[in-house]
Amino acid sequence: MSVLLLAGTTEGRHIAAAMAEEGIKGHASIAGVTEDPAPLALPTRVGGFGGAEGFETFLNDQGIRAVVDATHPYAARITGRTAKLCAARGTPYLHVLRHPWAQESGDEWVHVDNVDEAVEAIPHGACVFLATGRQTLAEFAGLAGRRVICRVIDPPREPFPFDGGEYLIGRPSRHAEDEAALLSALGVDVIVTKNSGGPGRGKLDAARSLGIAVVMIARPPMPEAERVATPEEALNWIRAL
Ligand SMILES: NC(=O)c1ccc[n+]([C@@H]2O[C@H](COP(=O)([O-])OP(=O)(O)OC[C@H]3O[C@@H](n4cnc5c(N)ncnc54)[C@H](OP(=O)(O)O)[C@@H]3O)[C@@H](O)[C@H]2O)c1
Repeated sequence: MSVLLLAGTTEGRHIAAAMAEEGIKGHASIAGVTEDPAPLALPTRVGGFGGAEGFETFLNDQGIRAVVDATHPYAARITGRTAKLCAARGTPYLHVLRHPWAQESGDEWVHVDNVDEAVEAIPHGACVFLATGRQTLAEFAGLAGRRVICRVIDPPREPFPFDGGEYLIGRPSRHAEDEAALLSALGVDVIVTKNSGGPGRGKLDAARSLGIAVVMIARPPMPEAERVATPEEALNWIRAL
């Protein structure tokens, strides 16, 4: 009997490392959306399961006794489906959801619920920095004609999906000074981001120091489930199985 760890986050990597160290039998799974992902300490499968049916087949074939879901706070489809399926099967399920970033004094955040509202919130003529990633980029087509810079980790294979946009290849820095230097050099007026939480706060602290507005896209609703915020709490749950 084995534990399935749905990974794809820093928390997932930490949990995999601790499980391997403690000799807890498990499989990790990543969606395979980034090229050359950092290796995990557990045997790892890469790519979608092929929908709910494929997921259940995997659980049965591998004798999975529990699922720990450490996917990203905006990966709502995999979390919603897994929580529901595990509840129906009686398979123990734990969602590891890191705390969101909290607004601090001096932060100029505009809170929106989705990409359409984010587009509406951006003033005409503004230079926009999209920290929302490649996967949802096409949804920002309403910004066509404005200067839009989208930061991506992997070199893009497709041209920018709308006029006025450009890619910036690089990882976010956790250091506000590095992010501030970058945002200043680019002449950014507005940042659009998800409230991912975790170490990527550097851009938000940089925005505050530069007086740059941040359009903050709210987290998607998540299913009712047993939930913790940290790898340590997740490991306690796994040990108690
Ligand atoms: N959304 C973000 O902003 C974001 C940011 C950083 C990292 N990520 C990571 O990237 C992955 C994809 O994100 P998303 O927003 O596209 O997710 P999603 O919309 O919730 O899931 C889309 C599909 O991707 C597959 N999938 C997702 N996570 C998987 C995993 N750990 N192992 C195997 N298959 C997985 C599933 O395919 P099947 O139906 O074929 O099983 C799922 O139906 C997630 O694992 C997430 O943790 C997402």
